[in-house]
Amino acid sequence: MAVMEAAFDPAYGEAWNRRQVADALAMPNTHALVVDAEGEVIPDGTVTAAPAGFVLTRHVLDEEELLLIAVTPGARLRGVGTALIAHLFDVARTRGITRIFLEMRRGNPAIQLYSKFGFEPIGERRNYYRMANGERIDAITFARTI
Ligand SMILES: CC(C)(COP(=O)(O)OP(=O)(O)OC[C@H]1O[C@@H](n2cnc3c(N)ncnc32)[C@H](O)[C@@H]1OP(=O)(O)O)[C@@H](O)C(=O)NCCC(=O)NCCS
Repeated sequence: MAVMEAAFDPAYGEAWNRRQVADALAMPNTHALVVDAEGEVIPDGTVTAAPAGFVLTRHVLDEEELLLIAVTPGARLRGVGTALIAHLFDVARTRGITRIFLEMRRGNPAIQLYSKFGFEPIGERRNYYRMANGERIDAITFARTI
């Protein structure tokens, strides 16, 4: 939650609250990966290591959806996001996942990270997101076979 609160710009209303995260993680098909500033995975239940980023996903059969990815602002542009996606691909493969989906608001610089991993745009939802100021932004859906 510390990374969540630091990472998301409130203008976009993308951050989840503690309850939403807890409810999601109570589902057997929802997964969180947390890493430190070196991009090393912090094992579940470890309370001493300082988290720098996380990715939250949900799978159905052999497809997985990336719900949220975030890196704390002070740790950005140093490969932590790259490490998160690389770890995700590894663990997703062990779950038998063959395709990963994600959705992004148009203009999010996160596209640099997704493109680096070969995610391809497969669809658009016009005016899908609503910002805090009422402005609407398109959603773009990406997919990547792993
Ligand atoms: C998107 C995010 C997770 C990237 O994390 P990060 O640790 O900075 O990512 P990396 O350092 O691994 O960068 C990966 C690549 O993307 C590029 N990149 C990342 N953020 C960038 C930005 N804001 N502008 C330009 N390029 C960027 C990096 O230069 C790097 O490219 P390279 O490997 O060719 O040098 C982070 O910016 C973030 O938490 N954003 C806010 C939350 C968010 O919007 N999440 C996505 C929607 S859920």
